[in-house]
Amino acid sequence: MRNLLVTGGCGFIGTNFIRHLLRRNDFLGRIVNVDLLTYAGNPENLADLAETHVARYQFVKADICDRSAMEEVFDTHRIDTVCHFAAESHVDRSIVGPAAFIRTNILGTFTLLEICRERHADIHRFHHVSTDEVYGSLGAEGLFTETTAYDPSSPYSASKAGSDHLVRAYQRTYDLPVTLSNCSNNYGPYQFPEKLIPLMILNAREGKPLPVYGDGKNVRDWLYVEDHCAAIWQVLQAGRCGETYNVGGRCEMENLQVVETICDRLDLLVPPTGDARRNLITFVADRPGHDRRYAIDCSKIETELDWQPQESFASGIEKTIQWYLDNVEWVARVRSGAYREWIATHYGDD
Ligand code: NAD
Ligand code: DAU
Repeated sequence: MRNLLVTGGCGFIGTNFIRHLLRRNDFLGRIVNVDLLTYAGNPENLADLAETHVARYQFVKADICDRSAMEEVFDTHRIDTVCHFAAESHVDRSIVGPAAFIRTNILGTFTLLEICRERHADIHRFHHVSTDEVYGSLGAEGLFTETTAYDPSSPYSASKAGSDHLVRAYQRTYDLPVTLSNCSNNYGPYQFPEKLIPLMILNAREGKPLPVYGDGKNVRDWLYVEDHCAAIWQVLQAGRCGETYNVGGRCEMENLQVVETICDRLDLLVPPTGDARRNLITFVADRPGHDRRYAIDCSKIETELDWQPQESFASGIEKTIQWYLDNVEWVARVRSGAYREWIATHYGDD
């Protein structure tokens, strides 16, 4: 693996993944990060790398759906490996406006696969980063395995399911060397504050209402982002071509439990001026098509690739809360219109 293309590297997991790789001493290649810089992409996350890793890291602003721009990236940088994160990723946004999800998640993945098909001999691996949401909802019992039937509920998960099917089809039809990972809910530094955990940390810190959908008893399986990055690296290195690996934290929690944990931890770190922060919890209308429970059986990646999550929820949430408390300027910028203006000045606006 000499020249690795990371798509969506300015987003939450992509940012953590690039930082993770450059810290590892068993990764010696170069990274080209292609990102369109949508509302979720923040080039500041990696701005220091242009100085600290000038020979090993490069950023290119481009749309994965733009075939000629992407062909230029592959040829200029002699890409031999792809780790594909770029996506529209927020379920609530997909309910309000599905079109961008179909475009980026399905057409964008298709565009990359076509480019790799044409350069088949040069491509050692195409790794597709996907989600457990493709499997739909579990009842009170059971776990998602790699053979669970797809049953997506939202436009987001349906678009990710479509992209997963395309990736597998390119392996079966054209023998493209692909791998897939389907992961549960991530949390940690650099997550855009629309997702449950950063939204609750920031609202709770600011004394704002904490909107919990429905009865708050929906279950998610939480994984600290650094553990997800280590899992992807293991799959890239040692995963078998054509295989799918489920990744999860063995950490099922009801949403209400997550929000209460955040409130209690923040009360200790930053004592509230008035009532305990749990009083800010507000039950609001449920998300349409809200999946009740996700839980991952990750025994395949544990036994085949010797991966296990290192972080418990207690230690991971502690680090995450502290990161958001320490990075108030980052938060202010990603929430502000000034940030969009800065992107337009530095990278051009589409
Ligand atoms: P994110 O929304 O934080 O980041 C997505 C990135 O993709 C952004 O930087 C955005 O600018 C970029 N992007 C969007 N459209 C693009 C386009 N057309 N061309 C180029 N770049 C584009 O998402 P995330 O949470 O980091 O998720 C990354 C991947 O991991 C996604 O594929 C997602 O489905 C998957 N995933 C996420 C989670 C999670 O809990 N966040 C869990 C499992 C899998
Ligand atoms: O499971 C993996 C998926 O996890 C990823 O594929 C997605 O990209 C990622 O966004 C995430 O999807 P969720 O829909 O599970 O994450 P979200 O943070 O939006 O919501 C987590 C749970 O919290 C979900 O049950 C909805 C609930 N929720 C969310 C928000 C934003 C609330 O109750 N209130 C909220 O304000």
